[in-house]
Amino acid sequence: MEMKRNTTKLLWLLMFFFDIVPLSYEKSMRERAIELMQDARLIDGHNDFVLQLRILYQNRISRVNLRELNKTHTNLVKLRAGYVGAQFWSVYVLCSAQNKDAVRLTLEQIDVVKRMCNSYEELELVTTSQGISESRRIACLIGIEGGHSIDSSLATLRMYYDLGVRYMTLTHSCNTPWSESSSKGIHNFYPNVIGLTPFGQEVVKEMNRLGMLIDLSHTSYSTAKAALSISKAPVIFSHSSAFSICNHSRNVPDDILQQLKKKKGIIMVTFNADVLACGRKVVNISTLADHFDHVKKIAGSESIGIGGDYDGVARFPEGLEDVSKYPSLIEELLRRGWNETELKGVLRENFLRVFREVENVQNISGVMDIGESETLQEVQNSCRLDLRNPRLEPASWLKSDHCQWIPRHEIRKRPFYYKSSAVLAFGTHFQIHKVCEVRSYCYREEHILR
Ligand SMILES: *[C@@H]1O[C@H](CO)[C@@H](O)[C@H](O)[C@H]1NC(C)=O
Ligand SMILES: *[C@@H]1O[C@H](CO)[C@@H](O)[C@H](O)[C@H]1NC(C)=O
Ligand SMILES: *[C@@H]1O[C@H](CO)[C@@H](O)[C@H](O)[C@H]1NC(C)=O
Ligand SMILES: *[C@@H]1O[C@H](CO)[C@@H](O)[C@H](O)[C@H]1NC(C)=O
Ligand SMILES: *[C@@H]1O[C@H](CO)[C@@H](O)[C@H](O)[C@H]1NC(C)=O
Ligand SMILES: [Zn+2]
Repeated sequence: MEMKRNTTKLLWLLMFFFDIVPLSYEKSMRERAIELMQDARLIDGHNDFVLQLRILYQNRISRVNLRELNKTHTNLVKLRAGYVGAQFWSVYVLCSAQNKDAVRLTLEQIDVVKRMCNSYEELELVTTSQGISESRRIACLIGIEGGHSIDSSLATLRMYYDLGVRYMTLTHSCNTPWSESSSKGIHNFYPNVIGLTPFGQEVVKEMNRLGMLIDLSHTSYSTAKAALSISKAPVIFSHSSAFSICNHSRNVPDDILQQLKKKKGIIMVTFNADVLACGRKVVNISTLADHFDHVKKIAGSESIGIGGDYDGVARFPEGLEDVSKYPSLIEELLRRGWNETELKGVLRENFLRVFREVENVQNISGVMDIGESETLQEVQNSCRLDLRNPRLEPASWLKSDHCQWIPRHEIRKRPFYYKSSAVLAFGTHFQIHKVCEVRSYCYREEHILR
């Protein structure tokens, strides 16, 4: 009887140790993660929420409550629960808008970020590293995803900077006339471009001059290598992971990681399940943490940040389903022996260091004038109105054999062409309109004086 009671006691004691002790250990890891994040709130490099606002609500945000929206991975309540202190909102527009309305769509996405961040007290627009440091709210930053958004125009790039854009990803999943994407076979734009063309190199230099971060996620190996060697400032990968762990074209190989370390840049490791796991069935926090461990081994923890890519892709690891879940990753990294200094770097300090350095390199006293650049030719886009001084170069206009020459009075009889033409008056001189069919969707018209 006595014996039995003792055994029961012992059993209870054993259960206490095996159940409660590991539980309290778990809890303390969680608590450590939370304390750390309260102290060093996350700066996330990439979130596509505003693309969802266009798709779901045509950017009419006054009709929805962004605090508790449930159709997306992101809402304001969840951002707070995830200890997000600053978010780069991607003003991404699809590659299919290249050479069409990419600039207009990008402007509309910038507009919706501004309206969103100005109309919720939880949010605040900032454009500097100091702005992030001082913000007590969730600091909003703007990033362009894909060089097609500038339509090969440095002037447009400069105006985006003026509107508050602080990074540009050089490509999305399409080549631009000046930069090569890592994605092959998705789009057929400019298949012969390799790495950065001379104009692409000018874009990188202009971004340095403006103080805009150069983002190499989505770019090809050659583009990344070229940008790393040209840029005077450190560069970022806003949402990419390790190629050695999953050989997806979106991920960064070890030699580029080593160069990134040399340049003191960062890779903001992304949570996209496809990029993390290369088709493996189980994708969880351990899968993601393996990428962190690998990048730390190759480039050191000071080269690492976080770029979730929430609302940009469909599938995330188990346990990381939305923007409230970041603490679970930090908990796992603590469990794997990452120390608090390393983790504060990953959460926040490493990005701030890079941003400050980009701001230091900024030199707007050196004015670049693309009008004088030899490289203008290579990015000529046939859908643009081309105004040149006809007295300087009339003959070269006659060369294209895709074009039809139509006297002005003829054009009036052809309503289709006439409709698509914006007639420009050059005094009282005789005019001829040249109408070219370009890639079957865009018509060009040029005006020549005789
Ligand atoms: C979203 O989900 C939460 C929790 O389930 C709920 O309280 C809230 O009303 C939902 N909001 C909307 C807009 O559906
Ligand atoms: C990734 O690895 C697999 C298996 O080794 C191989 O078949 C595939 O071609 C590789 N993909 C890339 C992009 O290197
Ligand atoms: C992730 O999945 C693997 C394989 O099933 C498992 O061994 C591991 O414990 C899981 N990790 C977490 C954090 O759940
Ligand atoms: C954290 O780890 C780094 C190496 O990554 C080391 O230099 C540093 O001293 C460690 N800090 C603490 C507080 O242990
Ligand atoms: C800024 O640009 C100007 C003009 O190109 C140049 O003379 C000057 O040395 C640059 N300053 C720095 C700090 O790089
Ligand atoms: Zn992306």
